[in-house]
Order: sequence, then C-alpha cells, then structure tokens
Amino acid sequence: MVALQRLGIFTSGGDAPGMNACLRAVVRTAVSNDIEVVGIRRGYAGMIDGDFVEMDGRSVSNILHMGGTILKSARSDRFRTAEGRLEAQRQLKEAEIDALVAIGGDGTLQGASIFYEEHKIPVVGCPGTIDNDLFGTDDTIGYDTALNTALENIDRIRDTADAHNRLFLVEVMGRDSGFIALHCAIGGGAELVLIPETLTDMKSVKDKIKSLMFSQSRSSIVVVAEGEDFGGASRIAEELQNDSSFASIDLRVSILGHTQRGGAPSARDRVLASRLGCAAVESLLEGHSNIMVGMINDEIKITPMRNVWSRKKNIDYELLRLSEVLS
Ligand code: F6P
Repeated sequence: MVALQRLGIFTSGGDAPGMNACLRAVVRTAVSNDIEVVGIRRGYAGMIDGDFVEMDGRSVSNILHMGGTILKSARSDRFRTAEGRLEAQRQLKEAEIDALVAIGGDGTLQGASIFYEEHKIPVVGCPGTIDNDLFGTDDTIGYDTALNTALENIDRIRDTADAHNRLFLVEVMGRDSGFIALHCAIGGGAELVLIPETLTDMKSVKDKIKSLMFSQSRSSIVVVAEGEDFGGASRIAEELQNDSSFASIDLRVSILGHTQRGGAPSARDRVLASRLGCAAVESLLEGHSNIMVGMINDEIKITPMRNVWSRKKNIDYELLRLSEVLS
C-alpha cells in the first residue's frame, strides 16, 4: 500500500449526471483510509488559481442524487500551456496535495496524463462524460442518464410528429461520437440515424425520407448526432427546404442540446459512479498512477491514461444495421 496523505479531487470539462455520486465515493473512500481530501473547484482553471476547499465525509452528504457537480466544472485554455501546468503544480505543492483523482472526459484525462508526465503527481481518472466515447470502459458516468433523457424527449416528439404527419430532425449531443444517437434511435424507433462515425450521403437520406413520407405516408423521426458530417440537423433541414421535391413535407427541427447534460443521475449511473470513485482511490493506494478506472463486463478494469484518449472506442456497427432493419 502506498502512503497517501492529501488527495486532490476535481471535475472538469462538460459536466455529466453522476459526477457528484463519483465525488462522494472518492471522498468517502479516502476518508475511510485516513486520507485528507481537498476539493479543487472549476477543474484545471481552479487548480491554477488555487481555488481549493477542504472536504470531509459530511461535505458530500445528500449529493448522490444531484446532477451537475458541486465542485463546478470548466474548460481551461491556460492548462493547455506548460506555464499554466507549472502554476498548477506549484499550487498543489503549496496545498501539500500528493495525489489527484480527475473526473471527466477525453480532454480532462488527456490533460491529467500530460500533467503526470511533466510533474509526476500520481493521478487516477474516472470516466465522466455523457458522450460515452472513452476507450477502457463500456459506459462512462452520465451516459445512461443522457441517453434516457434523449429517449424520453424522442417519445414526446413522436406523439406530436404522428399527430401532424411531420418529419422531425432531432439533434442529440455527440460531437465526435454517435453513442447517444444510435442507442436512442433504436430505443425510440427512429426511421433514420446519422452519426459522426459514418459519412452522410444526402442522396440516400433524401431517398429514404421520400420513401417514408410519400410512399408510406408516415410521420418520421431522423436522429442526428451533433457531430454528423453534413453539418447537423439545421444544415440538413436547410438542404431539404431548398429542394423543391420536399416542398410538401412538413418539417421541424428539434435540438435537445444541454437538456441531455442535466438532471438526476439514473440508478445505473449512480452505481457506476460509486464503484468507479471507490476504485479510483483504491487504485492509487495500490500504487497505480496515470491510469483510468473503467467498467468492462461489470468488472473494474484499469487502462493506461494514454490509451484512453489516443484509442478510439468504436460504436457497434451491428446496432447501426439493426436500426436500419427495424426502421
Ligand atoms: O463532451 C460532452 C458534450 O456534452 C458534447 O456532447 C458536446 O458537444 C459538448 O459537451 C458541449 O459542450 P459545451 O457545454 O461546452 O457547449
């Protein structure tokens, strides 16, 4: 066992439901191992500014069920510079912090890994992002909740689309990955799904929509991931509206946006976050560093941080085929 005295904990990048549950698990596991905990507010920005708060078991009471993050989050340009990281190291040293747990997505974990390589402060990452795009874990903290939020909204849109026989383009989050889009398309019975992992062929999109709306005379839902390569739901709508053969189609765009980031975490996210938060502290005590804890086939697994952000986690192309078969 490695002797740890003071642990710094922070959340960074886009917040995700379940970050608070993870934070709680980290703090309580640390406290039960007689480790002091310092909360670092506003991610790397707060680390550079020395925006620190002492935490104990009680400071994380009644947060398990809350969305957002009580430590706040931020994206920091200063931390991308060597000077910014040097200042962060100076602040951590002054606060006598001897190890870190970082909760966030690819940018956060990439920053943590670069920081470790430069300054050798032990760090373990917990995957926290609604995008589910991190290698080394089946699910990221927040993904299940965001997916269910998107799905609930698609169900509601389905009702009104059907009532008016409309075509809806529903844009969901996912700048570089289509996990939310693909899974809520299957769960919501969407007629078509467009994701960043595949090229959008506008001719076949138009043919499909014509077949649905004219030949089958159905209301239709197209789920579009925000990072889809044609330019997202609004751009696709513009293209269809400029095409006279779509003039009779009643088309609406609905961008779900940040509704997917908020809200109480699902049961699945709360359990995942609690298990990963505990595993992060125990991994540090076992001497691991520069790794991310993840969950693969319901077991905690450790992945070198570098692999987390340099390797691509692929969507399941069989699910893409399934969505086409069922549409
Ligand atoms: O990384 C999570 C995410 O929600 C992406 O899906 C989305 O593209 C991005 O964050 C939005 O970031 P911001 O809140 O900074 O606009």
